Amino acid sequence: MRLVLLGPPGAGKGTLAAFLHKELDIAHVSTGDILREEMKNNTPLGQEVKQYVESGGLVPDKVVIKLIENKFSGGIVKKGYMLDGFPRTEVQAKDLDAILQKLNVPIDCVVYLKASLPVVIKRLTGRRICRTCGAIFHMTNNPPKKDGICDVCGGATYQRPDDKEETIKTRMNVYLESTKPVVDYYEAQGKLKKLDADKDSRAVQEDLMKIFHDARYLHKH
Ligand code: AP5
Repeated sequence: MRLVLLGPPGAGKGTLAAFLHKELDIAHVSTGDILREEMKNNTPLGQEVKQYVESGGLVPDKVVIKLIENKFSGGIVKKGYMLDGFPRTEVQAKDLDAILQKLNVPIDCVVYLKASLPVVIKRLTGRRICRTCGAIFHMTNNPPKKDGICDVCGGATYQRPDDKEETIKTRMNVYLESTKPVVDYYEAQGKLKKLDADKDSRAVQEDLMKIFHDARYLHKH
């Protein structure tokens, strides 16, 4: 299965990716996670991208395209892949098509998580993430059993700096301006499957598995 997960900030891409990673055992590539790891380790790339990520803007296309090219050249995509947070601009979408064509692993399906603004704001302001393993929680929808402690690995949870209300607004505007056209790009290719992502996690997972089942994607490759 070769998948792209698209949708506004807080639509639930990372949460769904964690579920699919367990269900399908395919590579999960999140540009947001890769960039945050670089920032955590204070690498030259981390220093370069910090101002963009923390202000809610987009990291320049050439930087993230290079990241994806490097990641894919290692052969991790042979078993299938799931891209989360990439592509985010039309330039990235076109370059991705060229990279995948060269590797002969074209996208099967693009899942568009449609979520409304009040829902994503609530999700992002309440989100907490494990600093050690990256597990995703929510203060009310999915709280850790012990406040501030990750259920999975016992690490400390934290709030992403870009999950402050002001930065969320910037991220939403950037999404509407730069990433929404990517939805149209894949719709024109006939690859887009829409999901109502305002529903709770279990309902979203069930709807998605039904789409995969009906389209017979699960039996491909
Ligand atoms: P990135 O990390 O990709 O952030 P994003 O796209 O803004 O998406 P989020 O991670 O915020 O949300 P999500 O949809 O994964 O939601 P989640 O599952 O966590 O990017 C961050 C930054 O990096 C960008 O702003 C940019 O600067 C840079 N960047 C990354 N990729 C780039 C690129 N390609 N080009 C340029 N720059 C790039 O869920 C959110 C919360 O809701 C959680 O608390 C969760 O528990 C809860 N939740 C999820 N689903 C449900 C549900 N169905 N019901 C109830 N609660 C739910």
